[in-house]
Amino acid sequence: MAKTKTQFVCQNCGYNSPRYLGRCPNCGEWNTLVEETIADEVPNRKSRVSLGGETAKAELIKDVSLEEVPRVKTSLKEFNRVLGGGVVPGSLVLIGGDPGIGKSTLLTQVSGQLGSKGRVLYVSGEESATQIKMRADRLGVGGDNFYLYPETDMSNIREQITTLNPEFVIIDSVQTMQEPDITSAVGSVSQIREVTAELMQIAKTNRITIFIVGHVTKGGAIAGPKILEHMVDTVLYFEGDLHHTYRILRAVKNRFGSTNELGIFEMREDGLREVANPSEIFLEERLTGATGSSIVVSMEGTRPILVEVQALVTPSVFGNAQRTAQGLDRNRVSLIMAVLEKRANLMLQNQDAYLKAAGGVKLDEPAIDLAIAVAIASSYRDKETNPSDSFVGEVGLTGEIRRVNRIEQRVAEAQKLGFKRIYIPKNNLQGWTPPTDIEVIGVTTISQALKLALA
Ligand code: TYD
Ligand code: MG
Repeated sequence: MAKTKTQFVCQNCGYNSPRYLGRCPNCGEWNTLVEETIADEVPNRKSRVSLGGETAKAELIKDVSLEEVPRVKTSLKEFNRVLGGGVVPGSLVLIGGDPGIGKSTLLTQVSGQLGSKGRVLYVSGEESATQIKMRADRLGVGGDNFYLYPETDMSNIREQITTLNPEFVIIDSVQTMQEPDITSAVGSVSQIREVTAELMQIAKTNRITIFIVGHVTKGGAIAGPKILEHMVDTVLYFEGDLHHTYRILRAVKNRFGSTNELGIFEMREDGLREVANPSEIFLEERLTGATGSSIVVSMEGTRPILVEVQALVTPSVFGNAQRTAQGLDRNRVSLIMAVLEKRANLMLQNQDAYLKAAGGVKLDEPAIDLAIAVAIASSYRDKETNPSDSFVGEVGLTGEIRRVNRIEQRVAEAQKLGFKRIYIPKNNLQGWTPPTDIEVIGVTTISQALKLALA
């Protein structure tokens, strides 16, 4: 019988401590340390994984053959693209997202399509076989190669994989799976780590592709330690607004492709449908021809998002001009209005201004300045912006447009989402070649930008 002891494990980053600490010294989060029991010796440790299979040995780098990574294509092109061109056999893919966003739906659809390429085992720790069957019927998937297995015990799952010998396995979700050797609670860091290590071993030694569903925390990260994201080959996030039907699938890590890809889907009665022209989503709620609207490409962490900035400028009634801002910093708005007044001759001091970042998002970075300025000027002059224009740039106090970071990513995102033109700081044009299928205009001053954008 193995001796057991307990330790405190940070549920955010996986840091171990022999005693309780209020604050994790590793990631700085408060109240994240939880007592977990660890067996002194875990029988046959799963974390020793051979990535090249049982027969792999060291070889000279010049002898390593560079054969194409084989890809299995599903009929969801957006899904293939996010994966870097298709499903790579033997890879471990983690899909994170809010509850109810459609992870199980997406993977049920994908399973149905992969059924024509090989055997698929769908392991669910959350729903019964009947529930999954009902969903599959609604989605119109089934077939001879699609197996359902409601189970949470990893040793049973391993056994089932050995007998069934599938090419593709879905684990829905990693937080519900349980390694019986580990006494820690289901969903704890130790459990998630061991379950993932075991899945990785199964994937790599048998060349099985495993899709793992992971829940996300309130902060938006996949629940459990960062370690989970380090262990897998690919991390995808499935996001969207529960009040809207559109969903975005993004690669945030991909050992077999670029992380700049995103796929857009629409959640319908009969499942997820690909959206052929994604810019429609962002333009559809915009009133084309309305004044006081502009599109900005803003960075949310390392991810670019496109957001509509709206402004309503009206003459103030009470002498004391109002300025309100929703989702934008009011001080930033006041500053930009002062610059517009002084450097672009807009008489704004006796105007009320209401600003809004549409869709309920919060934007806070200098690169949104230009879009705010354009929206204000557009409303003030009653002159609409071109619906296929987008704007990026910081506005300085002398009216200059200052350089912003990650310009290539922003331009690529605007182009990907169907925008025809993007205004950027002129200084940002140096050092790279802009893509050709979007018109990139470099501007130096706010008055020059307004002249071009509101011509
Ligand atoms: P689900 O895939 O269960 O979400 P997750 O696994 O990420 O928690 O999807 C849940 C929502 O999707 C549910 O509220 C109903 C909706 N839905 C549709 O609108 N159309 C469909 O065809 C299906 C299967 C689900
Ligand atoms: Mg689900």
